Amino acid sequence: MSPIVFVVGGVVIVALLVYVLRGNKSAAGHKAQPAAMTWKVTTVTQETPSTVSFEVDSTLDFKAGQFVLLRPNAELPWRAYSFSRAPGAPLRLTVKRVEGGKASTYLTTKLKVGDPLEVKGPYGVFVVPSNFTRALFVAGGSGITPFLSQLHAQAGFGWPRPITLVYANRSKAETILRAEVEALQKDSNGKLEVIWVADDGSESLKGPLTTEVLTAALSSSTGFDFISTCGPQPMMDNVREVATKAFPGVHVLEEKFSAAPEGSATGPSHELQVIVDGNPKSFPVKEGEHVLAAARTAGIGLSAGCEMGACGVCRVRVLDGKIDVPQDSCLSDDERGQGYALVCVGTVKGNCKFEPAP
Ligand SMILES: Cc1cc2nc3c(=O)[nH]c(=O)nc-3n(C[C@H](O)[C@H](O)[C@H](O)COP(=O)(O)OP(=O)(O)OC[C@H]3O[C@@H](n4cnc5c(N)ncnc54)[C@H](O)[C@@H]3O)c2cc1C
Ligand code: FES
Repeated sequence: MSPIVFVVGGVVIVALLVYVLRGNKSAAGHKAQPAAMTWKVTTVTQETPSTVSFEVDSTLDFKAGQFVLLRPNAELPWRAYSFSRAPGAPLRLTVKRVEGGKASTYLTTKLKVGDPLEVKGPYGVFVVPSNFTRALFVAGGSGITPFLSQLHAQAGFGWPRPITLVYANRSKAETILRAEVEALQKDSNGKLEVIWVADDGSESLKGPLTTEVLTAALSSSTGFDFISTCGPQPMMDNVREVATKAFPGVHVLEEKFSAAPEGSATGPSHELQVIVDGNPKSFPVKEGEHVLAAARTAGIGLSAGCEMGACGVCRVRVLDGKIDVPQDSCLSDDERGQGYALVCVGTVKGNCKFEPAP
């Protein structure tokens, strides 16, 4: 073989290896954004008075526990919805109506078979590690959806490890996909334990899931090495408190369904500068105020998706200063190290300059 052919061949192989090892990461070292898709609704099922599930005509490669951003039309905001079935099964999303909520009211009252949906994703890091010994899942209301996906996936693997699911609702009648959870429990041959909780006393354990109720529910449980929770924030705070005491050292993974509360935005004001298409634009932000909210107030549009620190659509690269991003967001330690931040949940304590991530 001639030396030129040898050298060129070597360069091509190295380039291919770099491409494969990077996977879906862009040259800047962060995840590339998935392209938008259009799905068509194929079924709509009323699950409870306030909840519907719908299936779509498409397929998507995702991990159990992940979500997509969707909107039925351009007048409605993008919102995040988790798959409620395992990867590989017909795609299904399950939406609970939030009082006064724009997207959820439309999806639970107006959506019909044949309707198109604009969709982006999948996103999210709310996934179960493959090496747990015994897992605890704590779901509240619509927070069951990512767990349903994970439980169906465990069923597909033949229930390799035991799981305890604490599933809390206002009432038995409002419990989303209760029969499906029961069927999974039966199928699991004792591997899935379910502790049913209802605030109105219609289940074996009466809620709400306070630290006392949760401690009592788990009093005979030992040895969880993976704990995850999804539901109202006060419930998730209680799970963290109980888990920290009862199972020290075990990491608690949280999925927030509703927006992170704004910090007190009454502190001193700082100046932010964003570089858009090479042009700097400056705007003020108060300490505690989310950078995205401050940009909007100033009439500067920045990309956003879930607005809860879960999808990464609002990622920016900090050029000068610092944007503080909560630890429980989807930003990886690698990305933090490389100077990336999320403006939807990010706040500052001083002046800062940044640019949207490519
Ligand atoms: C990663 C992720 C996955 C999600 N998966 C699902 C899912 O599978 N099924 C599902 O039903 N929802 C899910 N959600 C919640 C969903 O994205 C929307 O936030 C919810 O449907 C409300 O949107 P909306 O436009 O109807 O309400 P908005 O018009 O945004 O809000 C109306 C009012 O309701 C409050 N609010 C907003 N969201 C919630 C909430 N979740 N609970 C209580 N109050 C709220 C707001 O503070 C506001 O006061 C998920 C959220 C995230 C971040
Ligand atoms: S908009 Fe989803 S992480 Fe910021």
